[in-house]
Amino acid sequence: MLSEHMLDCLNDQINLEFYSANLYLQMSSWCEFKGLDGCAGFMKSHADEEMEHMTRLFSYVNETGGLARLGQVDAPPFEFDSVADVFQQTLEHEVHVTGKINQLAKTSQDENNFSTFNFLQWYVAEQHEEEKLFRSILDKIAMIGLDGSGLFFIDQEVAKLTKTSHAPDTGTA
Ligand code: FEO
Repeated sequence: MLSEHMLDCLNDQINLEFYSANLYLQMSSWCEFKGLDGCAGFMKSHADEEMEHMTRLFSYVNETGGLARLGQVDAPPFEFDSVADVFQQTLEHEVHVTGKINQLAKTSQDENNFSTFNFLQWYVAEQHEEEKLFRSILDKIAMIGLDGSGLFFIDQEVAKLTKTSHAPDTGTA
């Protein structure tokens, strides 16, 4: 059973995960437009992951007797200065999402809603993995640089990450 407040917070998170999916899909379009096929594939795959985050929340709300509500989703930005800007904005967005997940966990704890607290642990672990992943990409960009053939190598390196950027196995999902 979810309180009205908990339900509102979970529905807000459903909306945010939708926004994340649209943001990364939009970024994949920008990457493809710039000829960065590796980055485009990676961001598209990450958009798919965000939709999984959304449906996991959607199912949980409905399984607990609540009504999952879909709200208006803001349009994401579609112009970026560089691929470094894309990944910097991605990291900043993920840090924002982590803050929201932490707030959700705090709310569930304050309400003694331990079922929801337990459910949210998967997201806590996922946010750790995602922040780590995007920091590692920014580290690579800083090391290799974007001049000359740097951009080509970055695109190749990011393409390799597409296959390994899976959700964490915490045993709680
Ligand atoms: Fe659903 Fe990338 O957080």
